Amino acid sequence: MSLNVAQGSRFARILSVGSAIPSRVVDNEEMCTYIESSDEWIQQRTGIAERRWIGEGEDLESLSLAAARIAIERAGIEASSIDTVILSTVSHFDQTPGLAPKLAAKLGATDAAAYDISAACAGFCYGIGQADALIRAGAATNVLVIGAETLSEMINLEDRSTAFLFADGAGAVVVGPSETNGISPVVWGSDGDQFEAIAQAEPWPDAVASGNKGVLTMQGQAVFRWATGFIADAAKRTLDAAGVTVDQLDAFIPHQANDRITNAMLRSLKLPEKVVVARTIKNFGNNSAASIPLAMDALLASGEAKSGDTALIIGFGAGLVYAGQVITLP
Ligand SMILES: CC(C)(COP(=O)(O)OP(=O)(O)OC[C@H]1O[C@@H](n2cnc3c(N)ncnc32)[C@H](O)[C@@H]1OP(=O)(O)O)[C@@H](O)C(=O)NCCC(=O)NCCS
Repeated sequence: MSLNVAQGSRFARILSVGSAIPSRVVDNEEMCTYIESSDEWIQQRTGIAERRWIGEGEDLESLSLAAARIAIERAGIEASSIDTVILSTVSHFDQTPGLAPKLAAKLGATDAAAYDISAACAGFCYGIGQADALIRAGAATNVLVIGAETLSEMINLEDRSTAFLFADGAGAVVVGPSETNGISPVVWGSDGDQFEAIAQAEPWPDAVASGNKGVLTMQGQAVFRWATGFIADAAKRTLDAAGVTVDQLDAFIPHQANDRITNAMLRSLKLPEKVVVARTIKNFGNNSAASIPLAMDALLASGEAKSGDTALIIGFGAGLVYAGQVITLP
């Protein structure tokens, strides 16, 4: 017997973006009260001048909801017409249930399929890849993709090799059907041989028993080498898969891991001067899955990029995992 097959929209695109940043500003001066370092060293090695951490009354859920509400409003659709909610995060501290079903219910996306994905700093682009495929396959119509983190809860303030880097925030997009294509084929992959390059210092049960949430450790130089070599090449492959040359790009929105990594990618890609480059790490730090949608929203809000522009996005991080696409900005 041949069963019915779902028919999706031929194309998908990002309809809207929203973001939320926590209220607490932690500048490098404050950071240097926790670790032996200097504003000059942190800025020179990472480009970070200050980062945002959650303050009173803020958490992963509140940031996610705030970003999602803005994205839904800007999409001009009812929350009830969102049929899939994908939350990418590594800082939801319950193994089960996922946070996405709760977000869906609070947003009014009744009966939406809802699940969390754990793909660290590549998580937002993993989510876009899934949303695009679900819509074209007929498994979804309007997909809310949220990248949100509260990494401040996973920072070891005694570790001067990581404490200055990680931060909190949330970004969200609505992906929906389109007459023209706004999301190129995803280029993604993993290198599990380097699973210890960015990882929790101890298994979750041990961390909980010792009263923390599993602080992050990082082999900084290994990550740096991988990002400036393999990932820079993956960015080129992403452009090739999209059929786009660097001259046709308007914006480059890489995961905000580290400004030196962004600079190395720029050199490798040979991006023309006219391409706008996201640099939100300066004020927001590295907030993992949130960094790309947050940077996208910031570039649009500042007028540096505009709706309809062509942008290369690429996320990479713990796993190690990566994913990239060329998109049309909402
Ligand atoms: C983390 C990172 C900035 C560290 O820089 P680094 O140059 O590799 O640092 P090293 O550990 O080799 O130390 C170099 C020197 O800086 C010093 N140092 C290390 N941490 C320091 C700090 N927080 N403040 C001041 N000095 C510091 C070291 O003591 C060492 O000094 P020495 O040369 O006198 O021995 C860098 O490895 C990096 O950017 N990695 C990529 C990380 C990343 O992007 N992760 C996110 C991926 S999602």
